[in-house]
Amino acid sequence: MGALVGGVAHEINTPVGIALSCASHLADATARLRTLFAADDIGVDDFQRYLDTAGEASALVLSNCERAAALIRSFKQVAVDRTSGERRTFDLATTIRETVASLSPRLRQDGHTVTIACPETIAVDGYPGALSQVLTNFVMNAVIHGYDPGVGGHLRVSVDLPDAATVRLVFSDDGKGIAEEHRTRIFDPFFTTRRGSGGSGLGLHIVYNLVTGPLGGSVTVDSAPGRGTAFTVTVPLVAPVKE
Ligand SMILES: Nc1ncnc2c1ncn2[C@@H]1O[C@H](COP(=O)(O)OP(=O)(O)OP(=O)(O)O)[C@@H](O)[C@H]1O
Ligand SMILES: [Mg+2]
Repeated sequence: MGALVGGVAHEINTPVGIALSCASHLADATARLRTLFAADDIGVDDFQRYLDTAGEASALVLSNCERAAALIRSFKQVAVDRTSGERRTFDLATTIRETVASLSPRLRQDGHTVTIACPETIAVDGYPGALSQVLTNFVMNAVIHGYDPGVGGHLRVSVDLPDAATVRLVFSDDGKGIAEEHRTRIFDPFFTTRRGSGGSGLGLHIVYNLVTGPLGGSVTVDSAPGRGTAFTVTVPLVAPVKE
C-alpha cells in the first residue's frame, strides 16, 4: 500500500503540475491584458493573442484536472476491499448481460460484437458490483488495447461450473494479444502500454484485488501477439465471509 500511495502521488503530480503552470501562464497573460486595458492601449492583435492563450490554457487545465480526478477515482477503487458494494444473491447471467448492455454504445460505435455463453440461473452469493467492475475492465481493455481503430472484434464471455461450488468465467477477444514481456506485468499497479494517452495502469490491478479479495478467487491471463487475449476468473459460488 505504501508503494501504491507513492506511485499515485507520482502519477498525479504530472497532470497537477501541468494544470498549475497553465493556470499561472493564464494569470500572467490576463495581468498583461489588464495593464494594456488600463492604459487604453489594447490592439486587436493583443486581444486575439490573449483569446488564443486563454483558450489553450483553459483546455489544458480542464483536461489535466480531469486526468487527475480519474486517477484519484481509480485509486479509490484500488482501496476497495471487502466493502466493495452490497453482498447479495444474484443471477450471474443477468448481471453479465446487464454489464455488457451498459457498455454497448461504445461497443457498437467501434463495431465489436459480444457473445455471451452463460448457463441460465446460476445463483451466486457474493458481490455483483465487483464482478461487473471486473468484466467492465476486461471489455474496455479489449476495446482500447486489442484493436486498431476501425477494426471490429469478436469478444466472448463464457461461463461454466468446473465443480459444484465453483464458477469459471472466461473473457476473450480476438485482438492483437499481449507481448510476453508485458503479459507478466499487466496486473501490476501502474503497468500500462498507454501512458500519456489516458492509461493509468490501475484497471487490471483493481481486477486482481477484487477477484482475490472480496470474490475469493483467482485470475489468470492467456495471450500472445496475434492470438488474442483470454482472462479466466475462477471464484467460489459463495464468496468468502468478511472477517
Ligand atoms: N485485451 C487486451 N488486449 C491487449 N492488451 C491488453 C488487453 N488487456 C490489457 N492489455 C494490456 O495490459 C495493460 C494493463 O491494463 P490495465 O487495464 O491495468 O491498464 P490500462 O488499461 O492501460 O489503464 P487503465 O485501465 O488504468 O485506464 C494495458 O496497458 C495493455 O497493454
Ligand atoms: Mg484498463
